[in-house]
Amino acid sequence: MKILSGIQPSGPLHLGNYFGMMRPAIELQDKGEAFYFIADYHALTSLFDASKLREYSFDVAVDFLAAGLDPERAVFFRQSDVPEVTELAWLLSTVTPMGLLERCHSYKDKTARGLPASHALFSYPVLMAADILIYDSGLVPVGRDQKQHLEVARDVAVKFNERFGETFRLPEPQIRDEVATVPGLDGQKMSKSYNNGIFLSDPENVFKKKVMGIKTDSTPVEAPKSVEGSLILQLYSLVAKQAEMDAMKESFLRGGTGYGEYKKELFRALWGYFAEYRARRAEWVADRKRVESVLAAGAAKAREVARATLAKARRASGLT
Ligand code: ADP
Ligand code: TRP
Repeated sequence: MKILSGIQPSGPLHLGNYFGMMRPAIELQDKGEAFYFIADYHALTSLFDASKLREYSFDVAVDFLAAGLDPERAVFFRQSDVPEVTELAWLLSTVTPMGLLERCHSYKDKTARGLPASHALFSYPVLMAADILIYDSGLVPVGRDQKQHLEVARDVAVKFNERFGETFRLPEPQIRDEVATVPGLDGQKMSKSYNNGIFLSDPENVFKKKVMGIKTDSTPVEAPKSVEGSLILQLYSLVAKQAEMDAMKESFLRGGTGYGEYKKELFRALWGYFAEYRARRAEWVADRKRVESVLAAGAAKAREVARATLAKARRASGLT
């Protein structure tokens, strides 16, 4: 079965992107034929600076490779290197009811945050459906915020199949409960747009400052601390072993330790977790050519699959 996911190169990646999408996707690369891509067409709905788009696309590529994506096993490519997907998006848009898109939260959220209300921003989920359907994807690992888009992809596939005959497989989302929503420094969902992120590329002093600045309540040092909803514990659970997690929880309940100590431990654990990633990233960054050749090889493989699916959809709809 094919496993597919994409990530927009709309800025540097944070812990939410890593634990919500990247790590689960990488873990799945051994379980089937994985297709992972850099959603640069999608990024154009919110990033309007050409040199930034180029820079972030390269950054996402090295982030994925440093995080453990194995280009021998997974097909890794740039969305726009397979332009067939935009033709499929057009075919799919002819079966997509307006109401379905009007119900999507992400368009409302993004325009409310000040993004210009373009047609591309509105029809974003149709292009995303094309991404998913064109590779005949069975499983799509994403964070919880993409759940609705997955539902749109399924609905659109059903509509197309009803109108033109069985053409597309219905994809299943895979959303890991334990990392479904990684909280940011302020307790809201960590996001590039909320100014509450810890970025994989943050230098040590910035990373540390952010962790030490995590919001806590005003429980005095001696008093027991609440484990419910603790941001420190939630972030710690992403990287700590079960025994370490239990120890910190017990210490919370016992009292006698200030939040500053826990933050220091959290920093140590998070920073240490990404040591290997940082070393591998430096190697990939130094070898731009190799990154480009991985993406070119991935695009060639992805294109083959995409062409076959598009040909099927063209036939089914009467274009050919
Ligand atoms: P952002 O909200 O920072 O702009 P994106 O929308 O580009 O992030 O998300 C890229 C991927 O990372 C998606 O699969 C999304 O579900 C996942 N993701 C983003 N933020 C989080 C988070 N805080 N917790 C879990 N997953 C997340
Ligand atoms: N919309 C996704 C996000 O913002 C990125 C994306 C584009 C995607 N196409 C996709 C994710 C297809 C999974 C499958 O994170």
